[in-house]
Amino acid sequence: MTTVIGVPAVRVRGLSHRYRGDGGPLLALAGVELEVGAGEFVALVGPSGCGKSTLLRVVAGLLEVSGGAVDVLAGSATAARAGHRVGLVTQEPGLLPWRTVAGNIALPLEVTGARADVDALLARVGIAAFARYHPHELSGGMRQRVALARALAHGPRLLLMDEPFGSLDEFAREAMGRELLRIWERDRVSVLFVTHSIREAVLLADRVLVMSAAPGRIVAELPVHLPRPRPRALDETPEFAALLHRVREALGGAP
Ligand SMILES: Nc1ncnc2c1ncn2[C@@H]1O[C@H](COP(=O)(O)OP(=O)(O)OP(=O)(O)O)[C@@H](O)[C@H]1O
Ligand SMILES: [Mg+2]
Repeated sequence: MTTVIGVPAVRVRGLSHRYRGDGGPLLALAGVELEVGAGEFVALVGPSGCGKSTLLRVVAGLLEVSGGAVDVLAGSATAARAGHRVGLVTQEPGLLPWRTVAGNIALPLEVTGARADVDALLARVGIAAFARYHPHELSGGMRQRVALARALAHGPRLLLMDEPFGSLDEFAREAMGRELLRIWERDRVSVLFVTHSIREAVLLADRVLVMSAAPGRIVAELPVHLPRPRPRALDETPEFAALLHRVREALGGAP
């Protein structure tokens, strides 16, 4: 595994997680080792049910681990969460239907009493004109933009994204990916990005981590040495195709 220089944003050692499910205990994660460097963009891929969302929830401080060590922004995951230094975006935008776009973004700020420029946040994700709309008046891609703006409201140092663009069509997905890269390049946040799309992983990330089937652990790590900012026709290059192939192979070989 790559050793990240400086204090990493995420450092996971020997992590295991066991759910006490209705059907009996289930070992979801076993021996996960992972690091996300400060300012690094890391993508995580793996078969369905291998524990990707579980891992993200642990790092987000939403789930207590059964074993191992998890450091987030040089402290515990719960402390990072309590300090609002971690932003989480999931596949479902989870917006309050009775609140406007601006109202949804303002909500976490109202809760903490923090100040942030909601209009500027909306502009950053490209939906400045929709502040007064309600979620049902937006497209799926626009709702995900709202979710992203909400995650950025407290100026997080770490962005955790769980298939954030999974429900979008290819076109919207690419546009959102480019938007995200712009935000990441400007703010230099660290990103841990779960996706089902190998293509998306290679297009966005500095490093792609591959997880095994459940109980999940990291079985391969592929550095993505492609230029930044990522050019538009990047996916037509032989380098891109070669990387895609390597990730696919690592996934295929995942035990
Ligand atoms: N709250 C829960 N209680 C019990 N078991 C759970 C719970 N959440 C997830 N699991 C189990 O843990 C395993 C890993 O689930 P998880 O959602 O982390 O997988 P995933 O890699 O995100 O899958 P997908 O790619 O389909 O989103 C699965 O077997 C799932 O059934
Ligand atoms: Mg999941």
